Amino acid sequence: MQIQRANSPLHNNLDMDKVVLITGASGLLGRAILRIFEEAGWQAFGLAFSRASRNSKLIRVELRDFAAVNDVVSEKKPSIIVHCAAEKNPDAAEKQHDATDEINVKATENLANVAAANKALLIYISTDSVFDGFHPPYEENSSDVNPVNYYGKTKLSGEHVTLSHNGIVLRIPFLYGPVDEVSESSMLTLFRQLEESNKRVVLLDYDLRYPTHVDDVARAVLTLAESFLRNNSSVKGAYHYAGQEGYTKYQMAVLLSKLFQLPHGHLVADPNPPSSGANRSQDPRLLCSRLASLRAPEPRPFGDGVKQVIQDFKLKTDTGSG
Ligand SMILES: NC(=O)c1ccc[n+]([C@@H]2O[C@H](COP(=O)([O-])OP(=O)(O)OC[C@H]3O[C@@H](n4cnc5c(N)ncnc54)[C@H](OP(=O)(O)O)[C@@H]3O)[C@@H](O)[C@H]2O)c1
Repeated sequence: MQIQRANSPLHNNLDMDKVVLITGASGLLGRAILRIFEEAGWQAFGLAFSRASRNSKLIRVELRDFAAVNDVVSEKKPSIIVHCAAEKNPDAAEKQHDATDEINVKATENLANVAAANKALLIYISTDSVFDGFHPPYEENSSDVNPVNYYGKTKLSGEHVTLSHNGIVLRIPFLYGPVDEVSESSMLTLFRQLEESNKRVVLLDYDLRYPTHVDDVARAVLTLAESFLRNNSSVKGAYHYAGQEGYTKYQMAVLLSKLFQLPHGHLVADPNPPSSGANRSQDPRLLCSRLASLRAPEPRPFGDGVKQVIQDFKLKTDTGSG
């Protein structure tokens, strides 16, 4: 079904169309997207599930309940749906194929159907893990997709479903940003390990991640949404948004240690692929020219961004407000 809303006679006022519904709005990325759209003057509705009660603005919707999804979309009438909700942990996905399929594929397929039926544009948040990372960098229209783990396979299926309903796919890399608790971010978990122990620790020095701040991704999503409202015929297909500084886990740990004057002589680099858990793409660097041509803001330097996130988190936990 062709999505035509922004330019239809009934919707010729752009401000009238600034209604967004965000799934996964209790998560690391969804929280940032909800805030950035609100700050930009959009009427924004955030959906969540197990953490819905943590923020009175969130609406509790189980995305595997297709009727509930249909009801909330029909009632809120968004012009744009940003789909963040997913099982995002590759190791968990590897162990639980069926549960991962249900949220990453089947719930996405239902949402794509509901979006199309309600003439809303679906912006599907995908991942650099759809590439195996052996032939970087990757352009938006690369046909080189070849996920190396189950998580990547399910996210690629979500992309196919989205594109077949004329939705937009936004691929992003490893994220960092403000967290409610340490376990939400592997970057914060790593920092805590560095703070708490000087014992010898072996860290992967194999796969490159391109850490990107969630607020920068949220602004890129806003750029896509507003560009679509202005000119919906040219905003379509797959987009990339990513920081361009690559770090292995070991390199990230060394950088964090230096930024916070922590010892790092006990960190040992392991250049081999992971011996347990899900496989990882070796170097899935994304080229981002399509979003650059829409004038999306550039990602901030990782050192500056991560220092701020950790300082804010330490302040929050030290003052007991976290
Ligand atoms: N984090 C990264 O480094 C990274 C990298 C590349 C791509 N991505 C993609 O970015 C997106 C957002 O990731 P994130 O890090 O923000 O994830 P996250 O923090 O784990 O949040 C996941 C969100 O999904 C919601 N959710 C899960 N199952 C649900 C269900 N059955 N019904 C309704 N909501 C459900 C969760 O709600 P409750 O918690 O309230 O249950 C939560 O809001 C994902 O699509 C992920 O694949 C993430």
